Amino acid sequence: MNMPEKEVQLPGVVASESELQGFLSKPWPSLVNMMKRLDGDIMLLGIAGKIGPDLALTALRAISEAGRKTKVIGVSRFSEEESRRRFEDMDIELVACDLLDPDEVGTLSRVRNIIYLAGRKFGTSGNEELTWIANVVIPANVARHFRDSRIVAFSTGAIYPMVAPLTGGCQEGEPLGPIGEYAQSCLGRERVFEYYSGVNNTAMSLIRLNYAVDLRYGVLHDIGRLVLEGRPVDLTMGFFNAIWQGDVNNQTLLALEQCTSPPTVWNVTLPEVVSTRAIAERFGEIMGKEVAFTGGEGPVALLSNSAKAVNVLGPPSVSLETLIRWQAQWLLAGGRSLNKPTHFEESRGEY
Ligand SMILES: NC(=O)c1ccc[n+]([C@@H]2O[C@H](COP(=O)([O-])OP(=O)(O)OC[C@H]3O[C@@H](n4cnc5c(N)ncnc54)[C@H](OP(=O)(O)O)[C@@H]3O)[C@@H](O)[C@H]2O)c1
Repeated sequence: MNMPEKEVQLPGVVASESELQGFLSKPWPSLVNMMKRLDGDIMLLGIAGKIGPDLALTALRAISEAGRKTKVIGVSRFSEEESRRRFEDMDIELVACDLLDPDEVGTLSRVRNIIYLAGRKFGTSGNEELTWIANVVIPANVARHFRDSRIVAFSTGAIYPMVAPLTGGCQEGEPLGPIGEYAQSCLGRERVFEYYSGVNNTAMSLIRLNYAVDLRYGVLHDIGRLVLEGRPVDLTMGFFNAIWQGDVNNQTLLALEQCTSPPTVWNVTLPEVVSTRAIAERFGEIMGKEVAFTGGEGPVALLSNSAKAVNVLGPPSVSLETLIRWQAQWLLAGGRSLNKPTHFEESRGEY
C-alpha cells in the first residue's frame, strides 16, 4: 500500500494562499518514488481550471524530489485572461489548444503520460448540447491522438445512482445511474474512453471524484460560508463525500502506474459519509454561530465507496475534522474565494 504523509505533520491553520498552495502540492513519498520509475513526460489537458495548477505543481515537486528531468506540459484554451499567471513560477511548458478541434489536437506532441481534466458542468441547463460536446467529443479526440499513451481521466461520482448513507456508497463495479444531463454526459465521457481503450489497447484509469476541497472553493467552503453569513443551509442533499484536493492530486498521479485496458476505475474521496447537517453544526461550533436549516434530508444521496483507491493508491492524508477546521479558519480570516459555487444542494442534477 502507498503511504502518504502522517496527519501529525499538518498545521493547525492554513494562514495564506501561498501556504495553501504549498500544502495542496505536497507530494507523498510514494509519488516521489513513482516519479523515479516513470518513463516519459507528463501532459495535463484542461490544466487551466480549479484542479490543474496545483496538480501540475504536485507533479513538478515530485519530479524534482525524485531527481528526474521529466517535462510537464499544460494544455488549455486559457480562456480566462488571468489563468496563465498561475503558472508563472512553474517550470512548465504551456500550449494553447482547443481540444474540441481534432486538427489542433493533432499538433500536440504525443507524450507518454496524459492527465485529462477538461470538462464542462456549470451552465449546462439551457445549453445542454455544449456540455455533451465538451464531455463526449473531446475524449474521442484525445483518446484517438494519444492511443499509445497511458491516460488518467477525471470523471465524477455523480454517475452513480443515489443511495442510502448506510450502504457506505457505491463501489466501482456497481450499476450506474446518472441523474441529469451533466452526469449523463460524464458517463458518455467514460464510455468513449472505454471504447478507445478497447479498440487501441490504450491503458487508462478513470478517476470518479466527489468534491475536491481546496479552501477557496468546494462543498465545505460553501457550507461554511452559509454558516458564517447566517444564511440557512439547504439539507436536500443530506449527505456527501469530499476529499482534500492535495490528496486528489497525489492519488491521480499515482494512478498513472495503474492504467490498464479496459480502464481501471477509482472512486476518489474520503472514506466517510458526511452529513450536511453535522458539518454545518460543526462549523457553527467553531465559528460561534447559530445554524439555520432549510429543507429536509432525503433518504438517499450521491455517495461513493473509496476503499479500492485507499488500499491501492494510498489513504488520504488529511482528515475530515482537519479540513473543517482549516476551512472554518480560512473563512473567518477572510481568505480568498474563487466564487465558484458547487451547488451541493442540487439533487436533480441540473447545473
Ligand atoms: N473540482 C471538483 O471538485 C470535481 C469533482 C468531480 C469531478 N471533477 C472533474 O474533474 C475535472 C477537473 O476538475 P476542475 O474542477 O479542474 O474542472 P474545471 O475547473 O472546469 O477545469 C477544466 C478546464 O478544462 C479546460 N477546457 C475546457 N474545454 C476545453 C477545450 N475545448 N480545450 C482545452 N481546454 C478546455 C478549461 O480551461 P480553458 O477554458 O482555459 O480551456 C477548464 O478550466 C473535470 O472534468 C470535472 O468533471 C471535478
